[in-house]
Amino acid sequence: MDIKSQLAELKKQALAELGEINLSSDIEQWRVRYMGKKSQLTEILRGLAGLPIEERKAAGAASNALKAELETALVAKENEMKKLEIAKSAEEAIDVTLPGRPCPQGHLHPVTQAIEEMCSIFQGLGFQVVEGNEVEWDHYNFDALNIPKEHPARDNMATFWMNGESKEGTDWKMLLRTHTSPMQAHIMETTKLPIRIVVPGRVYRYEATDATHLAMFTQIEGLAVDEGITFADLKGTLYEFVRRFYGPDRKVRFRTDFFPFVEPGAEIAVSCASCGGSGCRVCGNSGWIEILGCGMVHPSVLEGAGIDSTKYSGFAFGVGIERIPMLRYGIEDVRNYYSGDLRFLRQF
Ligand code: DAH
Repeated sequence: MDIKSQLAELKKQALAELGEINLSSDIEQWRVRYMGKKSQLTEILRGLAGLPIEERKAAGAASNALKAELETALVAKENEMKKLEIAKSAEEAIDVTLPGRPCPQGHLHPVTQAIEEMCSIFQGLGFQVVEGNEVEWDHYNFDALNIPKEHPARDNMATFWMNGESKEGTDWKMLLRTHTSPMQAHIMETTKLPIRIVVPGRVYRYEATDATHLAMFTQIEGLAVDEGITFADLKGTLYEFVRRFYGPDRKVRFRTDFFPFVEPGAEIAVSCASCGGSGCRVCGNSGWIEILGCGMVHPSVLEGAGIDSTKYSGFAFGVGIERIPMLRYGIEDVRNYYSGDLRFLRQF
């Protein structure tokens, strides 16, 4: 091949390759390949000296022209790449002077806050926190708690019964628990004595909702069983709970009440914070607000769980949770809790 066509071939190849390059780091390799000391072009230029004079002139001019052309193309390519890179880095640039985007932080639901506060008070008094199933056998929800078959709570209109579920080999039927008390029976059956537990959790009642009633709400159950537990332990524990939760200034009222699974049964009310006990709308003019039911565990409940009631005794209590922040913050409609309206929830 003569020099002219060699140069033409070289030019075609070099310019085509340069055109393909899209990384500036590849440009240097291209320069070395086509214009470096060991390149074909340099070799041709070196070989010019050995050519006859008439050939040398034309070949020299053509080689130098190609060299110049490649140099121009190289500079143009470098400029083009620089421009592209500047545009790209402007696109990707991070403006470190911009203020950060705020990351919204949530918080616990007021009912959860109340549960945590109450549980930590009971933990401080030596109680353990456990949880139970919201789906329950009627045996535990009623029978094991001394609630007889004819009790109105077992009515279809008071309880959510599960369709057709019954435990094999028994007549037990499945329901959504109507209170946390069934956990008393579960715990007594499965836990070594002594027992001191509190059980927070959801409960369900088949009833119409209004400002003070929900079909689903929350309770905390408490249970202590040991040798020699007396009514004085019940009173001492619950008075201390009220003192820690509501503060030392609230008065506590203790009255008898009836619950089938305790004997004797009682109810605790605290003096109304809104009126200080003189009577107002919040406390229904009584000056008192009932906060929990309690009592000494009925001997037949102990026996039903396999505990010797002549040796052991215990007390139990059940607190409704939703009304506690209601009283504290003056919330007037219990439905607000579960409406999902953030304007309501963000206040607490
Ligand atoms: N389970 C009762 C209810 O839902 C509340 C209750 C009363 C629980 C007395 C107890 C108790 O443990 O001793 O109305």
